Amino acid sequence: MDLKRLIGPWSTRFVAFTAAAALAVPCAVVLLVSRAAARLEAQRAQPFAALPGTFDEAVERNEAELMSSGRQIFRFDTFGDERFWSDALKLHQAIASGVSPATAFAVGLKLDVDMVPRTILSAIANRAIDLNDPANTVALIDAKAVIGVMPGPGGARQSIGLTCALCHSNVDDSFAPGIGHRRDGWANRELNVGAIIALSPDLSAVANLLQIDQATVRTVLNSWGPGKFDAELFLDGKAFRPDGKTAATLLPPAFGLAGVNLHTYTGWGSVPYWNAFVANLEMHGSGTFYDPRLNNKDQFPVAARAGFGSVRQGDDGITARLAALQFYQLALPAPAPLRGSFDARAADHGQTLFNGAARCSSCHVPPLFTEPGWAMHTGAEIGIDDFQANRSPEHRYRTTPLKGLWTHQQGGFYHDGRYPTLLSVVQHYDQLFTLRLSDQDMFDLVEYLKSL
Ligand code: HEC
Ligand code: HEC
Repeated sequence: MDLKRLIGPWSTRFVAFTAAAALAVPCAVVLLVSRAAARLEAQRAQPFAALPGTFDEAVERNEAELMSSGRQIFRFDTFGDERFWSDALKLHQAIASGVSPATAFAVGLKLDVDMVPRTILSAIANRAIDLNDPANTVALIDAKAVIGVMPGPGGARQSIGLTCALCHSNVDDSFAPGIGHRRDGWANRELNVGAIIALSPDLSAVANLLQIDQATVRTVLNSWGPGKFDAELFLDGKAFRPDGKTAATLLPPAFGLAGVNLHTYTGWGSVPYWNAFVANLEMHGSGTFYDPRLNNKDQFPVAARAGFGSVRQGDDGITARLAALQFYQLALPAPAPLRGSFDARAADHGQTLFNGAARCSSCHVPPLFTEPGWAMHTGAEIGIDDFQANRSPEHRYRTTPLKGLWTHQQGGFYHDGRYPTLLSVVQHYDQLFTLRLSDQDMFDLVEYLKSL
């Protein structure tokens, strides 16, 4: 046997085999690794695809749950406040007997086009509906189509309740003015909250709280005007500013608040703080609330008398809803400006001024447009009086986040709307900080503000 001939091919085969194996193993490894990498990549691109059984999956389930129940609460939850608006104030009676759809539109109420029954929608389109008949308002409330006004368990003729969406939602007017898809978080600056509450036949609950007569309560409510509400009235009983004008403040947007530390014009607290405050003390839902700052008799005589510093209702319908409500609110983005709604070149220059010579960004720090941290300033620092600041525990104004300013130009700017236009706000700062901006600079700054 020719060994050489035998070994020859064997060794060749062996070498070939080893070579092939040497190549195949790394190839397989590369293949496996690249497949795993592709899977990771796919997961990264698609963050909602957690592997089953992982904690990531639990997080995603939680997120989806908070989001959907938060939206539901924001839009539809009354926290049991029917007890106040209907049992005490009897607002439902006023609506059923005297609020036609025409009146409802006139006081700024909005209709969710996706909830209006089809028959009513086509009747509106064909002008075949009597907009002067209160029965149609009741039908719309029963269909949950009137934003922020909910029918009670026995229907709107029996009772109604109010939700967060009343003041902090708007519609896109897609069907008609005042009728469209919901825009949660947008301030309803047409809504005349005072006029709506003043419709109530029995205001004794408010009168007793404030220790004034019902006629005076009505005068105060009617002094607010559209787009305003006075959250502090029920704490300190101050209805008018020293100059005699209403002490009510503008309804702010409730979007674009993620990353912002303190809320309300005067920085009462965080989003869940304020949500608990409003649901308990303003909407008069049934829950638990604790803030001993309200026991200060000198600053908050009404609240101290009423015990608002520690509210403990047996049937707490608020506390369990705070997490989802906060989550949903923080998810609401500030809407981007409409195409062509501002002069882009001017806005570019305005941005340079905002971050430079005009010194705006020292307080309105982009991209939050408020200070990270404790964003609070005295009236003197921003060149205004302290009246509203002094109605809050910190006696200061919070730097307003500016994104989405373009959505709430109606009603003016600053907490009480004292500056009717963005230009007048800029002129105020120009004087206060002796910025010596030219007319063109001020125009450009305004265009920048409109672009946020
Ligand atoms: C009757 C109208 C009205 C209703 C209903 C209402 N709010 Fe408000 N909301 C206001 C007003 C007015 C302010 C400003 C108060 C202030 O600064 O003193 C405000 C402030 C806020 C802020 C602070 C915004 C910011 O810029 O920091 C948030 C958040 C908010 N409301 C959420 C809610 C939630 C959640 C609900 C339901 C539980 C609710 N509101 C119900 C009128 C209303
Ligand atoms: C010292 C801090 C500070 C500086 C500097 C500052 N702001 Fe403000 N800004 C505030 C505070 C605080 C408020 C809230 C005032 C109120 O509601 O009464 C505010 C409110 C505003 C508002 C009204 C927002 C609204 O929704 O009503 C606008 C607009 C604004 N600032 C723009 C500017 C511009 C433009 C500049 C630069 C020229 C500037 N700010 C500089 C602190 C500041």
